Amino acid sequence: MPYEPSSEAAIQAMLQLAQLRREDLVYDLGCGDGRVVIAAVRGSGARGIGVDLDPKLLRQAQANAVQAGVSKRVSFRAQDLFETDLRQASVVLLFLWPEINQRLLPKLLRELPAGARVVSNMHDMGDYAPTRRITLREGARPHHVYLWVVPARPLK
Ligand SMILES: C[S@@+](CC[C@H](N)C(=O)[O-])C[C@H]1O[C@@H](n2cnc3c(N)ncnc32)[C@H](O)[C@@H]1O
Repeated sequence: MPYEPSSEAAIQAMLQLAQLRREDLVYDLGCGDGRVVIAAVRGSGARGIGVDLDPKLLRQAQANAVQAGVSKRVSFRAQDLFETDLRQASVVLLFLWPEINQRLLPKLLRELPAGARVVSNMHDMGDYAPTRRITLREGARPHHVYLWVVPARPLK
């Protein structure tokens, strides 16, 4: 599936929904050239990890982090996002595809701590209703940016 970067308006909506704090650890799964996770850590003081399979995009992401002055707080990994351990994440950023979001949902709910925020540009999680969403009216058709807050797990 082709690489497509998030627009500036979508990034701002993602950050508005994520409500980042300095103590957050942000994972950007399918980070591309790193623009979203770089904006996330730059504005908040949080730390971030970008994951992608494309080595060329990852090199660009690293260069972009250096240029933005955040290379000490963000790192990039060449990894399949389905192999990424998310147990330390407090925020997960996504701009993937509908079927990947839906395949990812059980992993997100299994690994993320209660209260973690998941923000997705453009694509929802099928029947799993979002906590909030923002509608963007750029381009030919309006599209949404979604937030889910991971619920507490029932006591065993
Ligand atoms: C639509 S682009 C979004 C890029 C960036 N997150 C943004 O919003 O600008 C999706 C990215 O996911 C990456 N990707 C797709 N499948 C992946 C996988 N299984 N593991 C890691 N990265 C993946 C692609 O290489 C691509 O860079």
